[in-house]
Amino acid sequence: MSAAIEFDDVHAYYGGAHVLHGVSFSICAGERVALIGRNGVGKTTVVNTMLGLARLGSGSVRVLGRQINRARPFTVARLGLGIVPQGRMIMPNLTIEENLLLGSAPRRKGRWTLEEIYRLFPILKERAHTPGTALSGGQQQMVAFGRALMGNPDCLVMDEPSEGLAPVIVDEMAAVISSVAAEGTALVLIEQNLGLVRRAVDRYYVMAKGRIAAEGRIAGADIHALHSYIAI
Ligand SMILES: Nc1ncnc2c1ncn2[C@@H]1O[C@H](COP(=O)(O)OP(=O)(O)OP(=O)(O)O)[C@@H](O)[C@H]1O
Ligand SMILES: [Mg+2]
Repeated sequence: MSAAIEFDDVHAYYGGAHVLHGVSFSICAGERVALIGRNGVGKTTVVNTMLGLARLGSGSVRVLGRQINRARPFTVARLGLGIVPQGRMIMPNLTIEENLLLGSAPRRKGRWTLEEIYRLFPILKERAHTPGTALSGGQQQMVAFGRALMGNPDCLVMDEPSEGLAPVIVDEMAAVISSVAAEGTALVLIEQNLGLVRRAVDRYYVMAKGRIAAEGRIAGADIHALHSYIAI
């Protein structure tokens, strides 16, 4: 099967700060994989390297069959990479609907339309014309998720979607993430919430100090060992 994302010995930088120290991993088309690890180990930098927001010093990054050299967020979105960024990044001066429509800018055709997003998250339809920030954390996460789906991605990257959400809301998100991924979209779930990881993915990579430190399958994984990778 072709790879959705492939990193080979990637070194990445912010200015002179060397953050990724030889990261290698591979995620197949349609696969569901988690990237876990403590705060500051470089998880978001993996995303930023794909988007060109961190500088690729050496190594190779392939996204959806294309070699990424000088990436820009928009061109990577056109390839079919959908990002739900850490912190959600909802535009505060736009309405919910306008925020969702931003996600359709890559102009990729597919199942996801405004109507389908509203079917998935009916509360967003009710509140379509309110400002993006007049929402609870869970609702903001729905907007960030819906915005990424509006680009009809072949690979969806979610960076800590459960951050700051109540457990019951995380449960709802887990169900939606699983149902979307089950339709064949590859999923990269960056998370510290192992309950969500166990429900949403089949495989995991652990990052430590800017490298991949371990990997495995969720089925049969020692959950205490996984906890030890992310506990402070
Ligand atoms: N824009 C930036 N400029 C310089 N250094 C940065 C920048 N963004 C992150 N860093 C540093 O790079 C390292 C990795 O950060 P990164 O955000 O990738 O970690 P993370 O694993 O996503 O952490 P968290 O779980 O807290 O989100 C950290 O030491 C961080 O301070
Ligand atoms: Mg992060």
